Order: sequence, then C-alpha cells, then structure tokens
Amino acid sequence: MPTDALPPIGLGTYSDDDREQWRDNVATALEEGYRHFDTAQDYDNETYIGEGIADAAVDREEVYLATKLAPGNLAYEDALETAAASRDRLGVDTIDLLYVHWPADSYDPDETLRALDELCDEGVVRHVGLSNFTPELLDEARDYLDAPVAAHQVECHPLLQQDELRAYAREHDHWLVAYSPLAQGEVFDVPAVREVAEKHDATPATVSLAWLLSKDNVAVVPKASGREHMRQNIAARDLELDDEDVARIDDIEREHRVFDPAFGPWN
Ligand SMILES: NC(=O)c1ccc[n+]([C@@H]2O[C@H](COP(=O)([O-])OP(=O)(O)OC[C@H]3O[C@@H](n4cnc5c(N)ncnc54)[C@H](OP(=O)(O)O)[C@@H]3O)[C@@H](O)[C@H]2O)c1
Repeated sequence: MPTDALPPIGLGTYSDDDREQWRDNVATALEEGYRHFDTAQDYDNETYIGEGIADAAVDREEVYLATKLAPGNLAYEDALETAAASRDRLGVDTIDLLYVHWPADSYDPDETLRALDELCDEGVVRHVGLSNFTPELLDEARDYLDAPVAAHQVECHPLLQQDELRAYAREHDHWLVAYSPLAQGEVFDVPAVREVAEKHDATPATVSLAWLLSKDNVAVVPKASGREHMRQNIAARDLELDDEDVARIDDIEREHRVFDPAFGPWN
C-alpha cells in the first residue's frame, strides 16, 4: 500500500447546482465516518467544504482534504497564487493533496510541476496528485517532480476497469483514486453487479465500491448528497467480496466512459 495515509473512501463533491449544500453535506458525511473530501477549484465549493469541516466536532488533523488546480491555473505563478487561495478558502494551513486536474490548457510539465514542488517545500501542500494522465504523461511528470506522486485520480468503475493505470499505481506505489466510481449510476443495472449485490443483500452501489476497494492501491470518491447514499457507499469498507464475486465483475466486457472530453489525453 502507498505510504500516504489517504483514507480509501472519500466523498466526491462535484455538483453543478447549489454549491452551498456542501456545507451541510460535509457535516453529514463526517457524522457518517467520512474523513476524506475531494473538491477542486473548478467545483466552486471550496469555501463551503471548509465551513463544513470548521463547523464539525472533528479535529482538522483527522480530515484529509484534496483539491485540484483548474486547467487554466497551471502556469507557474498562477499555480502558486491559486493554490494559496484554495488553502485560504478551505480554511486550513495545509492542503493534504493538490492535484493537477487535467494535463490540458495551461499545463506545462516544467512550470506546473516546479510550482507543485515549491508548494510542498513551503508547506502550502502536503502531497502532489495528478488526474486524468496517461502512463506516458505520468512518466514525464515523475521525471520533472522532486516530490513523489501520492495519487493519480482517474475515472474507474466496473465498466472502465483501468487495468494499465492500476498496474502503474502498484508499480510506482501511489494511490489510484477512482472518480465517478458508480459511473454516475450506470453500473447499477449491470447484471454481474446486481447478482453479486443480491448474493450479499447489499446495493449495487456498495458492491461496485467494494469491488474497487478489493484492488491494491485503489481508493474511491463517490459523490453523494444525502445520508442514505453516503451510508450505502461507506458500507463498502465492510463488505468482503470473495474471489468468485471479484472475478464475476472483472469479467464484465461492456465499457462505458462518463467523462470523455476532446482534450482528454487518451483521445
Ligand atoms: N478528476 C476529475 O476529472 C473528476 C471528474 C469527475 C468526477 N470527479 C470526482 O469524483 C466524484 C464522483 O464522481 P461523479 O459525481 O461523477 O459520479 P459518481 O460518484 O459515480 O455518481 C454520483 C451519482 O450517483 C448517485 N449516488 C451516490 N450514491 C448512491 C447510492 N448509494 N445509490 C444510488 N445512487 C447513488 C448520486 O446521487 P445523490 O447526489 O443524489 O446522492 C449522484 O447522482 C466527483 O464528485 C468528483 O469529486 C473527478
């Protein structure tokens, strides 16, 4: 397992409506046992996430906060300035994990990754993350960075299993953080997922997340905006799938990618 103590289940916090709901959502998630929150400059909710954490009766040190530099903020000075602004909006001294959201737009490996190293040296950021990279771009980034890559966040679920990037994460000892781990609901009707769920008297959401968590080095950040979904999702920590269940889901052949912008480096 990677050395960074990232809690393997975190709360995804992207929504395109009512940003303010995240103050209460974070409070509810903390009550349900979540200790890892995944936000981004582009989600426009860092202030509310920070308020939810500040409101709660949980020590800051127990919470793992991850955010992401927006694609337009990746030039050297912009990365330094906007990371400090994110830290202030989140209301913390140090961001636990700062990702490059996409290797696109103003991404320049020399400038962007020099800024990330400097942010680590200055204590603005504890760990460096990358998101939506290919193996080739990960190799390049690791050459530029002094800091180790703590996490690579990509879309990953039973319909997009990311074998190559999971193997890469194991080989280089970082977390693969699975985003859209429920494929935004698309996994719920997959027969193999439904059958395993029936066998364990669990929901397809819990089973999909438990399948991801059965893999070495994989963490998950499902988005949920109500207590019941949060509960079903964190229950994945306690659902032990047997080898047959895992193989049943490994063998799914259908593929579906939720996020596929033209600037995605795999296109
Ligand atoms: N790095 C990147 O480029 C990137 C891209 C996309 C996403 N992300 C991150 O990944 C997080 C999750 O991805 P996502 O929001 O795209 O998709 P997701 O987590 O796969 O699915 C979220 C959807 O599933 C519903 N849901 C959650 N738990 C459920 C349950 N137990 N039963 C039934 N429905 C359930 C949610 O509804 P409710 O809201 O009603 O609970 C929501 O509509 C994001 O919030 C963000 O933090 C990162």
